[in-house]
Amino acid sequence: MTSKIILITGANSGIGLASSKVLACASSSYNVLMAGRSLSRLDAALNNLKSSFSEELKGTLSTIQLDVTDDASITKAVEHITQTYGRLDVLVNNAAIGGLNIPDIRTEYSLVLETNVTGPAVVAAAFRPLLLKSANPYSVYVSSGARTLQRNAMQKTAEHAQIRNRSHGGYQVSKVALNMVAVLEARDFGDQGLKVFAMSPGFVISNLRGEDEEAKTGWGKAGNPEESGKLLLSIIMGERDKDVGCLVHKDGVFACWLLSIIVCIVLLAYGNNKISPNGASLNPWTIALGDVNTSTLIYAHTWPSTFLSNVLIANTPQILFSCLYFAFNGLLTSMCVAAEWSSSAHKRKPLRVSNNPQLAQRSNYFLSIPYRYAVPLIILSITLHWLISESLFMVGIEAWDNNMQRDSSADLIACAYTPVAILSSILVGEFMFICLVALSQERLESAMPVAGSCSLAIAAACHPRFNPNQARDMEMEDDHR
Ligand SMILES: NC(=O)c1ccc[n+]([C@@H]2O[C@H](COP(=O)([O-])OP(=O)(O)OC[C@H]3O[C@@H](n4cnc5c(N)ncnc54)[C@H](OP(=O)(O)O)[C@@H]3O)[C@@H](O)[C@H]2O)c1
Repeated sequence: MTSKIILITGANSGIGLASSKVLACASSSYNVLMAGRSLSRLDAALNNLKSSFSEELKGTLSTIQLDVTDDASITKAVEHITQTYGRLDVLVNNAAIGGLNIPDIRTEYSLVLETNVTGPAVVAAAFRPLLLKSANPYSVYVSSGARTLQRNAMQKTAEHAQIRNRSHGGYQVSKVALNMVAVLEARDFGDQGLKVFAMSPGFVISNLRGEDEEAKTGWGKAGNPEESGKLLLSIIMGERDKDVGCLVHKDGVFACWLLSIIVCIVLLAYGNNKISPNGASLNPWTIALGDVNTSTLIYAHTWPSTFLSNVLIANTPQILFSCLYFAFNGLLTSMCVAAEWSSSAHKRKPLRVSNNPQLAQRSNYFLSIPYRYAVPLIILSITLHWLISESLFMVGIEAWDNNMQRDSSADLIACAYTPVAILSSILVGEFMFICLVALSQERLESAMPVAGSCSLAIAAACHPRFNPNQARDMEMEDDHR
């Protein structure tokens, strides 16, 4: 298998480092060159990766000095790659600075634009001849979704307020300009086979906002930078080729999911409007819930005619929904546990125990989550089960002849559906999903690492000054006395 030579700038921390790990874990054919302005920081990061993930790493990782603001260092890196590999398959322009806490606008803008715009443009131009020697070259610019014009016009979040006091907006300006660098490269070199992407990596943990814990974790709100690495992986594996020349976002999958739901609704509407049994015109949307109608009967010669098979077909959606319900409940429970745990960083709270609470201990929730979530969830779940039962159901028809004699040979067992119930089920399901997404936008109260329900982590957090090794030594001393 021919190897893929991938160069990532600014790879000693944050997204660059996490992406190097994700790529090297993905395939033994990936040869990742981690570039950065300080070789010592790069080597430390690489050694750390190798010692922590020796089992998972399949591809090759190495370091190379490259300061995007220093032409001599760029030329040296180009020469090294030319001599060693003769080509470059993927260039990831990731290095950037946040430009925070610089008192005057001129200094901030010149520093930030030099690193975040001029640097990547120069690096791209310098490596382009090597990229064009690749059979399938990619040029990826790590941009930012939150830096688009529209989002900034509307952005008034708490995190934004945290940063606004520390910057004059140079970073936002630089990312808009970087998007244009990507667009121009796509326009000018796309016809030579260069696939250019601007990539929005999402809001993730890194040193961009500062190196203290609060800033790194985005005040507890930033996600895992490996998710950004996975997006990069999907781009260079060709999964996003249809979006070439565009700004692709981490949550692009969401758009596909939404699209598939819309396609289902449109097809349902189209199919219903085609129904006209025996030439009669009938509006399927007017069929009442659970009504048996010849136009919505699912019946054909190949359709199973036994009672059991029709019961199974009619109830399969119920089983699927039950599985989704368990997943939904589990996710909501984890979110509630994380929120309660995080809030205890600000307010002292006794722990919950599952049985026999004593003194200050609190009992567990009867329905696993607080009633304000549990009760609406149960109501929605019952409604949806009922709607699904009206959407697809089993029909048994007893046949009687013209003389009112039973003719069991003409009996029919089949399934039927109600269009309005199907549409209502989709809408209620969507509503539940939107509620979950909206709840997930609620941010944790503190940057305290999430412990889930891991009793070991909880116990450790409850005894901050307790050193188990020291305690064991003391116990042993006691034993020897
Ligand atoms: N984290 C987020 O939430 C987020 C959101 C949207 C976009 N982004 C983008 O993601 C990219 C990576 O940032 P990050 O969040 O991972 O921040 P980070 O941890 O600060 O990483 C930035 C990297 O760029 C390097 N760098 C800075 N100036 C350089 C220069 N002149 N030459 C070469 N390397 C240089 C830094 O090296 P040193 O360690 O030597 O300074 C560091 O390795 C950036 O383009 C950023 O704009 C991040």
